Amino acid sequence: MSGFFARRASWNLTPNRYTEALAAHRRAGREVLDLTASNPTTIGLRYRDEELLRALARREALIYQPEPKGLLSAREAVAGYYAEQGSRVSPDDLILTTSTSEAYSFVFRLLCDPGDALLAPAPSYPLFDFLADLQDVKLVPYELVYDHGWQIDFHSLRTVIEGARGAGQDCRAVLVVHPNNPTGSYAKEREVEELNRICAVNELAIIADEVFLDYSLGTEPQLTFSSNRDTLTFTLSGLSKISGLPQMKVAWIVVTGPEALKAEALRRLEVIADTYLSMNAAVQWAVPVMLEERRGIHRQLMYRIRENLSELDSQLAAQKLCQRLEIEGGWYDVLRVPVTGSDEDLAISLLRETGVLVQPGHFYDFPADGHLVLSLITEPQIFQDGISRMLQFVATVCG
Ligand SMILES: Cc1ncc(COP(=O)(O)O)c(C=O)c1O
Repeated sequence: MSGFFARRASWNLTPNRYTEALAAHRRAGREVLDLTASNPTTIGLRYRDEELLRALARREALIYQPEPKGLLSAREAVAGYYAEQGSRVSPDDLILTTSTSEAYSFVFRLLCDPGDALLAPAPSYPLFDFLADLQDVKLVPYELVYDHGWQIDFHSLRTVIEGARGAGQDCRAVLVVHPNNPTGSYAKEREVEELNRICAVNELAIIADEVFLDYSLGTEPQLTFSSNRDTLTFTLSGLSKISGLPQMKVAWIVVTGPEALKAEALRRLEVIADTYLSMNAAVQWAVPVMLEERRGIHRQLMYRIRENLSELDSQLAAQKLCQRLEIEGGWYDVLRVPVTGSDEDLAISLLRETGVLVQPGHFYDFPADGHLVLSLITEPQIFQDGISRMLQFVATVCG
């Protein structure tokens, strides 16, 4: 049967042991204390339901106005969001998409021929592998290293660029997740300067994923790549995290960089967007109201993230086996745990024995075992009980 299908779609679709263990646990009707929650619409946040629904019922949505970059009113609202971050973005330099994933695929299509390479951070978000497969692009990992905080390992980045070139592979761009999921680390100003130098020497673009940009635990606003003009830069973001509205399917690409390159990139991206015209009218008309929603959602989520972090810290302070890694922002935290086997085995036993669900670090390509990933947007009571059961379990197994 596999003779019918393209090699790019020849994934191993048998569920992994973790997924099977979770399905069996649920089938048996057993309790799950889910510390992996990442769907903001089901964790008890308060949305302005009526305003959102009214915004989706605008009469203008009955008229079809095909606009490849997306409706101007929606792009102006997004430009307004950047103005509040201190970044001047013209609505002309913005392209709306239905998700950050779609934005990635447009940019990969724009930059890469089949087999070309993109440099992606490790550890990071596992969806990249599928996005790259679907666009016939090869992902080459460069490392982030942890030393009282995460940083880009520039030696690793330079080595992989040289290695790929040596193997006759064209590298097209460096992916930066800002802040990264799940390490919660932002690129620092000096790192952006270094990235710009490397990109200039190697003719690389930057693709910056800023879906978690606003969720900084610091007091100063974080820099956004939408102000980066030294390198051809594609800044990706959307409403799924900013406003906690993943179901509305609104994201975007901001293009910045040297003028001539930027203009050419935009002309070509517009053709890609025009080929699909994937945004629908009702949602585009609602973008200004949906963006406004971020104020209340951000406030609630930051409160919850801080509350869960403080609970985690107080429970961790009472034991010595597990520590959390420093984070600067985002929705996740990484816990360092004793290595008694693979992270996947630990996550599965934890689920079977205690009902607590966490993600094993290897889902995110951590270089070694001993890492579990927790969602900080989990409802606080579940978080508190889950952490307590998890630490007791680790103490029993490793103590
Ligand atoms: C780093 C990162 N980028 C992008 C996305 C997906 O965003 P979207 O819903 O806009 O496709 C996620 C989802 O968790 C993410 O963690």
